[in-house]
Amino acid sequence: MYRFNREEYEKRIQWYKDARFGMFIHWGLYAIPARGEWLRHFDQTPADEYDRYMDEFTAKDYNPRQWARLAREAGMKYVVLTTKHHDGFCLFDTKYTDFNSMNAPCHRDLVREFVEAVRDEGLKVGLYFSIIDWRHPDYPHYGDEIHPMRNNSNEGNENRDFNRYLDFMHGQVRELCTNYGKIDLLFFDYSYGNMRGQTWKAEELVTMVRSLQPGIIINNRLEAGGRGFGSLVTNDPLPWHGDYVTPEQIVPPDGIKDEQGRPVLWESCITMNRHWGYCAGDRFFKTPAMLIHKLVECVSKGGNMILNIGPDAYGNIPQEELDILKAIAVWMKKNGESIYGCSIAGIPKPDFGRVTRKDNLYYLHIFENAVGALPVQGLDRTRIKRIRALESGHELHVVTHFNYCDYPDYVFIDTGENPVLPDETDYVIKVELEN
Ligand code: GLC
Repeated sequence: MYRFNREEYEKRIQWYKDARFGMFIHWGLYAIPARGEWLRHFDQTPADEYDRYMDEFTAKDYNPRQWARLAREAGMKYVVLTTKHHDGFCLFDTKYTDFNSMNAPCHRDLVREFVEAVRDEGLKVGLYFSIIDWRHPDYPHYGDEIHPMRNNSNEGNENRDFNRYLDFMHGQVRELCTNYGKIDLLFFDYSYGNMRGQTWKAEELVTMVRSLQPGIIINNRLEAGGRGFGSLVTNDPLPWHGDYVTPEQIVPPDGIKDEQGRPVLWESCITMNRHWGYCAGDRFFKTPAMLIHKLVECVSKGGNMILNIGPDAYGNIPQEELDILKAIAVWMKKNGESIYGCSIAGIPKPDFGRVTRKDNLYYLHIFENAVGALPVQGLDRTRIKRIRALESGHELHVVTHFNYCDYPDYVFIDTGENPVLPDETDYVIKVELEN
């Protein structure tokens, strides 16, 4: 009988909670048609028509060392690559199907090169694995909620053996957990309708994963998806509970708490434009400022953020995404201390932006400067030990003269003579309180 061990759990997730910021990489055959990774679903494309893309998958510009270096420079502490998406094409050498990168023109185990590059950059290795496989003959087709052949009555399920599919799926997970050294994080994707939990033989799967990769962190999508929290938030998490909740393309308005009101670990997964896989027509990118604000928002609410890149058919990162990563790198180099290991501040959210906290250190993130001195509610003035501008280390002071004394619930910090602060995206002030 499984009993959730909170002490063991908290120990396992510590590095991930401290990391706060990761890179997601969606790359595969879908980068060739370049309309996102759900192309087969939307177009209801038959497998043999889609399989043809494998014949031109050269990965000629694939450079995982560049990807890993960019992630490190951007301040990301873990990197998660799609080893296989719902289309069933495997970026790794697998004995379970020929539909893999060893049999494409690249003839490379792309996952092996990826894990080596990420480890060499000192980052944690994450593997995304789709528990859905639209190409496998034993996966439900006709009438399934999302399968490309869901509306094709010629694709009935009479002769499909789902247990045979599960042997295949579990076998591939075993390969990934056996053949590539230490894996730090596994991102399963995803459960829907009655396709969740023990339908996947989730308990057997998680037991196998944890026996092969002790300490690994697993997300909640054996029982949930980009919506839904899973049993981690209940008083009695199931054996296949995720170690973190995975809100997709959203920052939970109030963070996420369990049934007892305790903060639960979560990670917002967010795209730079509107697609996970490369989409040539989607040039609608979020700005670096917006993404930095979202990262700060996630941390201020007790969560992580994983930011996605979608390389093109050859493996090149789109220029817009390179530019975003470079801009984030500049900010993180100066202010990463206000992200790593930080969490909910426990004081009211200020008008000027947000607050993250680590023990007795409060990081004031100024998205919009105040008129005059900066009003901060909830800090005990008598406990303030020092105040510093994080990026330069220069001293700042509390001011009490003039009309500031009219608002005793607030501490007012003099941010300097120039109302335009050195970093107009997010200027961070570090306030240290006496223990
Ligand atoms: C959703 C999408 C999938 C993507 C995942 C990332 O499940 O359907 O394509 O890989 O989110 O979280």
